[in-house]
Amino acid sequence: MPPTTSTAPSAAHVVAALDEAREHTFALVAHLGDADLERQVDPIMSPLVWDLAHIAAYEDLWCVHRHTGAPLLHADLAATYDAFETPRSVRGEIELLDAAGARAYLAAVRERTLAAIDERGIDPVIHEMVIRHELQHTETMRQALALAGMLAPGEPGLPPLRDQGRSWVMVPGGPFAMGARADSDSGFAYDNERPRHEVEVADFRIARRPVTNASWLHFSEGGGYVRREWWSDEGWAWKEEYDITHHPRVAAGHEDAPVCHVSWFEADAFARAHGARLPTEAEWEKAATWDQGTLLEGVGLVWEWTASRFTGYPGFVAHPYREYSEVFFGDAYRVLRGGSWATHPRVATPTFRNWDLPPRRQIFSGVRLADDPED
Ligand code: AVJ
Ligand code: FE
Repeated sequence: MPPTTSTAPSAAHVVAALDEAREHTFALVAHLGDADLERQVDPIMSPLVWDLAHIAAYEDLWCVHRHTGAPLLHADLAATYDAFETPRSVRGEIELLDAAGARAYLAAVRERTLAAIDERGIDPVIHEMVIRHELQHTETMRQALALAGMLAPGEPGLPPLRDQGRSWVMVPGGPFAMGARADSDSGFAYDNERPRHEVEVADFRIARRPVTNASWLHFSEGGGYVRREWWSDEGWAWKEEYDITHHPRVAAGHEDAPVCHVSWFEADAFARAHGARLPTEAEWEKAATWDQGTLLEGVGLVWEWTASRFTGYPGFVAHPYREYSEVFFGDAYRVLRGGSWATHPRVATPTFRNWDLPPRRQIFSGVRLADDPED
């Protein structure tokens, strides 16, 4: 074989990754009966069968319809399984495919996808996007399972952190290249990670480890949810309206494990209570990519809230569709970095940007503190 300089994956690699994603999806629901897949386990989440059929619809749209021009397998189902046309709030009330129907839809689309690859080869953006889409939905499905107390045995995978010492890492300021390289491993990056661009970051300190359950309980018991001065106006209003205190999982988890199910509002209040702040996403990425694996510990256990709003990098171009990220840009969403125990490593790269609303805490989110250097 001639040497190759391209980073584009082969069709065989893509097919193997599609298979692996599907095994991952089915493993996630293997312990559940059809009735549990079909009911809305929690009013803020989709019935799990919606996610399954949505995975199929998305794959058919991109790997078949957009890739080859062939019509959709089920044009009649397109609106039901489009995340914008059918928002979460109505997914529990409308007619959906049952579990057997969703499995059949997944299988039929997969056959079309493989036939299209045989015929046309792969598109490095489309196929990787579809693989990661399915993997991202396995995390969404775990959020629903966690709310319902139906996670598989052994989950959540949040082990105690080895060392509990309070420890800051000093990161010197200076210019830093933020975002995904065009030639990163698979050649794929989401539009919102590009273009890679230089940012100037001042000296800062970042916690070596994420905040633990024990620290969170200490905050809560020390008036964390009572001391007005630690909260933003919006955060306080939210906390009062919903009578918020620490999430039940905080007291249930191992005291030395990273705290999980924390909203941005709470993360912000916790940071202020400790005379610290949340890292910006530029600081987070600089620390995480500087000397990965040794600088920060515990990355990939809980998503880490940042101070930053979800916006496009300078020169952003939506690709291949505006609804992946661009429609969420603005003041409403905050960026999370790193990935959680439920995130597949293919998704959780050091430049990956996740985003959610400040009150959300059904997600697997925690906190890593940052601060300005002591003077
Ligand atoms: C990147 C996790 C915010 O779940 O809304 C799934 C991922 N996009 N289907 C989301 C996604 C389309 C997205 N997040
Ligand atoms: Fe989706």
